[in-house]
Amino acid sequence: MRIDIITVLPELLQSPFEASILKRAIEKGLVEVHTHNLRDYSTNNYKQIDDYQFGGGAGMVMMIEPIDKCISELKSERDYDEIIYMTPDGKTFNQYAANELSLKENIIILCGHYKGVDQRVRDHFITREISIGDFVLSGGELAAALVCDAVIRLIPGVLGNETSALTDSFQDNLLAPPIYTRPAEYKGWTVPEILTSGNTGKIEEWREDQAYKRTQERRPDLLE
Ligand code: ADE
Repeated sequence: MRIDIITVLPELLQSPFEASILKRAIEKGLVEVHTHNLRDYSTNNYKQIDDYQFGGGAGMVMMIEPIDKCISELKSERDYDEIIYMTPDGKTFNQYAANELSLKENIIILCGHYKGVDQRVRDHFITREISIGDFVLSGGELAAALVCDAVIRLIPGVLGNETSALTDSFQDNLLAPPIYTRPAEYKGWTVPEILTSGNTGKIEEWREDQAYKRTQERRPDLLE
């Protein structure tokens, strides 16, 4: 998989890819992540990429021309399955979308800034608009990093133990059950006996039951 991220703040998209699972996924060649500084595609000497809104109003708008130049250059090099725009008024991201995106070959992610992009960018280039929740970030970069993390860890071969993504919360619309590790007793607080019983069938049953109970308590909407 190849991910191209278009941003005015490429420095915000460095460290998430320089540690742990994402770093290893890149090293293994399972994913390539490239950032593109939108200012490099500015069409004037001031490296301008934003301008005042037509009709007036506070806040700058990202101009269509640099974005068109950047996307066109990328599209001249390869085909893209999706051109994603990170925006608080997009569709709320979830595990289903992460699964879908993990199956794509090449995607572009455009990070919004200021008031956002000229609507014509959204109308003519963007194939999917993603929000990471009902709150407003100062830019789309951290949201893009979060989406990349959720997607990349689902690419086959990225996680050491293939089954561990399958037992994540949300993977089958259930939250994950409680988990424990040694010691079996700490300050008098004990681990549920069933987990140390060695009875794998019963343990599996207990986990399913706990996952269901937890979901019912915390996220009944997932069961609807
Ligand atoms: N940009 C600013 N806020 C955002 C959000 N909640 N989701 C995605 N992109 C954003």
